[in-house]
Amino acid sequence: MRSSVLGSVWTLLLLLQEPACFGDEAASSTVNPCCYLPCQHSGVCVRYGEDKYECDCTRTGYYGENCTVPELWSRVRQLIKPSPDMVHYILTHFQWLWDIINHTFLRDVLMRLVLTVRANIIPSPPTFNSKYSYLSWESYYNLSYYTRLLPPVPDDCPTPLGVKGKAGLPDPELLVEKLLKRRTFRPDPQGSNLMFAFFAQHFTHQFFKTYNRMGLGFTKALAHGVDAGHIYGDNLERQLQLRLHKDGKLKYQLIDGEVYPPSVAEAPVKMSYPPGVPPEVQMAIGQEVYGLLPGLGVYATLWLREHNRVCDILKAEHPTWDDEQLFQTTRFIIIGETIKIVIEEYVQHLSGYKLQLRFDPTLLFNSQFQYGNRIALEFSQLYHWHPLMPDSFFINGDELSYTQFLFNTSVLTHYGVEKLVDAFSRQVAGQIGGGQNINAVVTRVAVGAIKESRQLRIQSFNEYRKRFHLKPYTSFREFNDNEEIANALEELYGEIDALEFYPGLMLEKTREGAIFGESMVEMGAPFSLKGLLGNPLCSPEYWKPSTFGGKVGFDLVNSATLKRLVCLNTRTCPYVAFRTPTEEQSHTGKRDSNVLTDEL
Ligand code: HEM
Ligand SMILES: *[C@@H]1O[C@H](CO)[C@@H](O)[C@H](O)[C@H]1NC(C)=O
Ligand SMILES: *[C@@H]1O[C@H](CO)[C@@H](O)[C@H](O)[C@H]1NC(C)=O
Ligand SMILES: *[C@@H]1O[C@H](CO)[C@@H](O)[C@H](O)[C@H]1NC(C)=O
Ligand SMILES: *[C@@H]1O[C@H](CO)[C@@H](O)[C@H](O)[C@H]1NC(C)=O
Repeated sequence: MRSSVLGSVWTLLLLLQEPACFGDEAASSTVNPCCYLPCQHSGVCVRYGEDKYECDCTRTGYYGENCTVPELWSRVRQLIKPSPDMVHYILTHFQWLWDIINHTFLRDVLMRLVLTVRANIIPSPPTFNSKYSYLSWESYYNLSYYTRLLPPVPDDCPTPLGVKGKAGLPDPELLVEKLLKRRTFRPDPQGSNLMFAFFAQHFTHQFFKTYNRMGLGFTKALAHGVDAGHIYGDNLERQLQLRLHKDGKLKYQLIDGEVYPPSVAEAPVKMSYPPGVPPEVQMAIGQEVYGLLPGLGVYATLWLREHNRVCDILKAEHPTWDDEQLFQTTRFIIIGETIKIVIEEYVQHLSGYKLQLRFDPTLLFNSQFQYGNRIALEFSQLYHWHPLMPDSFFINGDELSYTQFLFNTSVLTHYGVEKLVDAFSRQVAGQIGGGQNINAVVTRVAVGAIKESRQLRIQSFNEYRKRFHLKPYTSFREFNDNEEIANALEELYGEIDALEFYPGLMLEKTREGAIFGESMVEMGAPFSLKGLLGNPLCSPEYWKPSTFGGKVGFDLVNSATLKRLVCLNTRTCPYVAFRTPTEEQSHTGKRDSNVLTDEL
């Protein structure tokens, strides 16, 4: 107390002595010059003395005090490079053109281009993290941190985003209430369904496992990528509990003659359930939070059945193999199947591209590409896609509220996998972008994401626009032509350069007929594709039949589809897709399912 009073008196004296302190010059002499984020084009700001800085522009393609002057080659590239919106338009229109390209070598040429252009935006090896805004061995080596594409805003800056905006940011509760909370459900115009939404959540929570007990900006998922840790657990001890230790298989239980994950009584691992749920009723799954939603339980069950099915196939091929080799090889097949489905169906659906995407690691074998991946904090923030969630869940003629659906252990076994897959595939999900579409039950997750981003001092939306080679917005009206949203944001943030990362992604105007806006695609795709193709399985030493137990296993990976994942592991084949059925599909449901079975 006394010292702070003394401090104030001291400050006052100083101010009286030096009236110049009120002027701009003297005030800026105390500001960390890197707070101005002066270095453009990914130049590195290094502070010298109190008030000097230098931008390291090495290999940015630019030079000058702030790395703003283009070298000749950068100037040429600026001139000929088409805008992301233009490229997107071409990729999502002209069906006739793509029908032709799809059948020529151009498909591979373009696929390679998509992969390299996107992945090149992600530094590999990774760079900063939430503690280190400069390169350091600790940041490289300590896998418990999420990495970061942009370093945190220095913590001695005039405003939370450096020098832009007001001294204080808008109240997160108010921001979410006003701009993110759903008024009336707005369906995704791309027709994404709940099968898609739960896939998104199930798939990404193998590598988004924020570990706040260690501190903010840490993760529990140390593999930093697609390791199927959500099926096998994120550590060896858990994996050993989940395994049957026979023929490579996982433990399971039979309910009404159907295979489900084992109970926690049979496979003693920690699962997150509300207090009072007995271990006999809890299901033991690799990811500890998957008891939360029957949608996650469906996928956990499908992958468990698939794992054990693949074990049988491998055992028939290799009767001499022991449990360990069957398990390890099956795990690789499961990871390969996952990547195949994610690229060719999940990303294909999400992108809306008419170019038929292809999962083929050999496309990159003659390019410069680093195998390896580190999950970024920004990627985890970006993937908070809670607007996907509907207002209630329609299953087999019943309507379930959130209270009936969340943590309800009996939904999965009561309806069974077929009925749930069918229901989730027919119910449309919410549009992610455009604002005001998060169901009130989950708005507090958005509040949490915003609070976390502030504590971790994530840079502004416009700084990320620049990092991903996009033009920064110059006004809220350019950012979103909806007057209500633009005005509200202007009032809350003051200036566009102070708009935060996550609200920016969620509130940017959406592309026509699309699930979200330009930035979510241009920022999400690089993280996503780098993570998928950076998997060791995709590297030249690994990507060969023997890794997967021979041709039979390799074929399983290369022929994997969502439909096969479901229908090879159920008795009847329900309607299954990442989008709601077309008129025709929903009326001829019966005939359709026969067609599906034939296709298998
Ligand atoms: C009713 C459905 C859902 C509920 C109740 C729910 C709830 C939650 C909760 C409680 C958290 C933790 C928040 C925190 O610790 O601050 C979370 C995190 C998250 N959720 Fe959801 N969520 C749902 C659906 C989804 C969906 C469909 C996605 C789509 C991708 C998603 C993506 C995420 C992500 C990326 C995180 C951060 C995870 C991490 O960093 O560990 N969620 N959610
Ligand atoms: C570099 O950036 C600083 C801080 O934003 C600015 O004051 C200065 O004028 C810039 N220099 C040039 C050459 O643009
Ligand atoms: C695209 O071409 C591949 C073979 O190149 C073919 O298998 C596939 O059916 C084609 N898809 C479309 C939509 O034309
Ligand atoms: C990583 O850093 C955290 C925080 O400093 C520390 O607690 C943890 O032990 C480190 N992990 C390793 C493997 O060194
Ligand atoms: C849980 O789901 C079952 C089956 O749908 C339903 O009958 C039951 O009412 C639900 N339980 C709760 C507590 O809502």
